[in-house]
Amino acid sequence: MAMTQTQLLHELEPVVAGELDRHHTMAKEWFPHKYVPWSEGRDFDGVYGGEAWQDSDSKMPEAARVSLIVNLLTEDNLPSYHREIATTFGRDGAWGTWVHRWTAEEDRHGTAIRDYLTVTRAVDPVALERARMTHMETGFASEYGTMLQQLAYVSFQELATRIAHRNTGRASGDEGCERLLARIAADENLHMLFYRNLLKAAFELEPNQTMRAVTDVVTTFQMPGSSIEGFTRKAMIIAHEGIYDLRLHLDDVLMPVLRQWSVFDKTGLDAEGEQAREELSAFLAKTEATAARFVERREERRARAAAAR
Ligand SMILES: [Fe+2]
Ligand SMILES: [Fe+2]
Repeated sequence: MAMTQTQLLHELEPVVAGELDRHHTMAKEWFPHKYVPWSEGRDFDGVYGGEAWQDSDSKMPEAARVSLIVNLLTEDNLPSYHREIATTFGRDGAWGTWVHRWTAEEDRHGTAIRDYLTVTRAVDPVALERARMTHMETGFASEYGTMLQQLAYVSFQELATRIAHRNTGRASGDEGCERLLARIAADENLHMLFYRNLLKAAFELEPNQTMRAVTDVVTTFQMPGSSIEGFTRKAMIIAHEGIYDLRLHLDDVLMPVLRQWSVFDKTGLDAEGEQAREELSAFLAKTEATAARFVERREERRARAAAAR
């Protein structure tokens, strides 16, 4: 008899408690205000009668600006993510402690990035605020109905955000921005470890159900910011710059996590578990071909652009 989601939540609780302890020893306290160059700030055209933002204020390349906005708007939707995980994992016991701790850590990310961008005038603050309103009014609802699917999703998503923050920092050409985003990426990495270890434990308890959940998530994965207005165009700019693209998604997000779970070496799966793993392998092979084609085309585009200069 397969375990129900409620039984699984109960069985995994001691693992959550252990992971919480590990998290508390690894996480370092840090302060967003210490990462922002406040002396660079000046008043805007508001109640203090300063100057409105203009494009020439920003020293950042266009792709980095687009990526920073996507990352920030993604962080901004925290109330919706909180609702999702609180609904699935609950607010009691070790699960509840994690839900609140995670939320408190995530809340720093949006605060820090917004302060940094506003003080350094890196992006248009009016456009940013309007985009935040639209994005948060849309909200975020998970595609996934089960706890195992949600656990699989956040394992990949935390790692994806880590890579997106790191590479955005590098693309910004701004040392302070890179330092801040590296600090945030370190938080995302610990979040990924937490969820990845939990799902590993779920694999021990319920290998077939867990394999199904992983396959469902990998084959339909979308970034949490995909509901941002104009996301497709923004994602193309970000991918063209190599900040986040299908190649990175496959090599640096999907594969390392799947290997950690020993997905390809598991023995003793039943017919449904095997079926799920076959679907997963077929999907990964197809994605590999698409990623290789994408990189080839990007190189051609870059060569054409260089020749035209
Ligand atoms: Fe975050
Ligand atoms: Fe995170």
